[in-house]
Amino acid sequence: MVVSGLQIAAAVPCASSSRRVYKTRAAILGVDMKAASQLKLTSSYHISSASARPFIRTFTCTSKKFSKVVTKAMSGTTEEGIASGLPIDLRGKRAFIAGIADDNGYGWAIAKSLAAAGAEILIGTWVPALNIFETSLKRGKFDESRVLPDGSLMNITKVYALDAVYDNLEDVPEDVKTNKRYAGASNWTVQEVAESVRNDFGSIDILVHSLANGPEVSKPLLETSRNGYLAAMSASSYSFVSLLKHFVPIMNPGGASISLTYIASERIIPGYGGGMSSAKSALQSDTRVLAFEAGRRHKIRVNTISAGPLGSRAAKAIGFIDMMIDYSLANAPLQKELLADEVGNAAAFLASPLASAITGTVLYVDNGLHAMGVGVDSLIFQDLNVPKDDGKS
Ligand SMILES: NC(=O)c1ccc[n+]([C@@H]2O[C@H](COP(=O)([O-])OP(=O)(O)OC[C@H]3O[C@@H](n4cnc5c(N)ncnc54)[C@H](O)[C@@H]3O)[C@@H](O)[C@H]2O)c1
Repeated sequence: MVVSGLQIAAAVPCASSSRRVYKTRAAILGVDMKAASQLKLTSSYHISSASARPFIRTFTCTSKKFSKVVTKAMSGTTEEGIASGLPIDLRGKRAFIAGIADDNGYGWAIAKSLAAAGAEILIGTWVPALNIFETSLKRGKFDESRVLPDGSLMNITKVYALDAVYDNLEDVPEDVKTNKRYAGASNWTVQEVAESVRNDFGSIDILVHSLANGPEVSKPLLETSRNGYLAAMSASSYSFVSLLKHFVPIMNPGGASISLTYIASERIIPGYGGGMSSAKSALQSDTRVLAFEAGRRHKIRVNTISAGPLGSRAAKAIGFIDMMIDYSLANAPLQKELLADEVGNAAAFLASPLASAITGTVLYVDNGLHAMGVGVDSLIFQDLNVPKDDGKS
């Protein structure tokens, strides 16, 4: 008998010295994706399922900075043929994940966790990044990152071109229509993508919004232009409203939607500017209102994950992500690296029937950093006996 769905297991340190070694059954490896520019675009394409031997990777942690408690999605059978634990079972469910253009970000990790739990995966990729993403997929550049806990490769049933700042064709300005980065792609407005998914598959169960953009993100709010502010809101918050609005009619009752937010929506994070903090605040507020509206009318749950810092392509473009990762390691209750998989697994839980009463929430997956009121690495606290992970326990 095959155990259904996705089970969670924590990898145990192989050695209990300050040099820790962890073994995991699968690992996401970064692939350096260059910005997609001046590339000819193609329409949607399919990649077929394949299987591979389990990919084994050993992490050798030489400093606390790389200390990991690896929590992995596991799926498989037990020796007795009895399902152990409490599985996340998404077999028979179909997910549309908007905002994947490489294998480094949260969207990819969420796709993998949903796939490990048995969901069928559809992806929406930003039009200017589509060609390079598809080419990389076809050439097998992501194959190592596609390995699931059971050794098979994540199957992406279809990739759709998407630009989530345009609801329909009438919204698209002439200069975008004629832009060479959009040439060759079609049906990429939100409404058209929802229609294409309906025509191709009829319905979905899970909608994931893992995208954001703020052209003036590096400017303080006081120096942000109206256009920059509104562009951040359009790409990072209204894009979720629009996606849900257009996909809700094809979402099965009991379905779930998830977006990604950041603590800068609630607390001051200098450097996260250009209206991006405002956009994330709107996203969190909208999560509550949409939970009510989509819950009452369509029995759809709406939640958002407030994720800790990850060195994704989008985050690197902001310019201070390494600083935020270091700050988290120094100050969060859990002093370990945050893995994209941990956000992926939280998303799989939220999307699953196990979370059937959870809606309208912000779920923090950030090693607990959001709960801190002070930064304990401040010199002010040097004489305070602050417990630290010295790597011994
Ligand atoms: N990386 C972090 O530290 C962090 C922390 C908290 C929250 N988040 C959030 O996680 C989500 C995913 O970001 P990520 O950091 O994983 O980076 P990422 O680069 O993997 O994902 C961002 C995606 O948004 C896409 N995108 C941008 N504009 C788009 C548009 N108009 N239409 C469609 N797609 C568009 C990009 O192509 C990219 O694939 C974002 O909402 C981000 O704000 C990230």
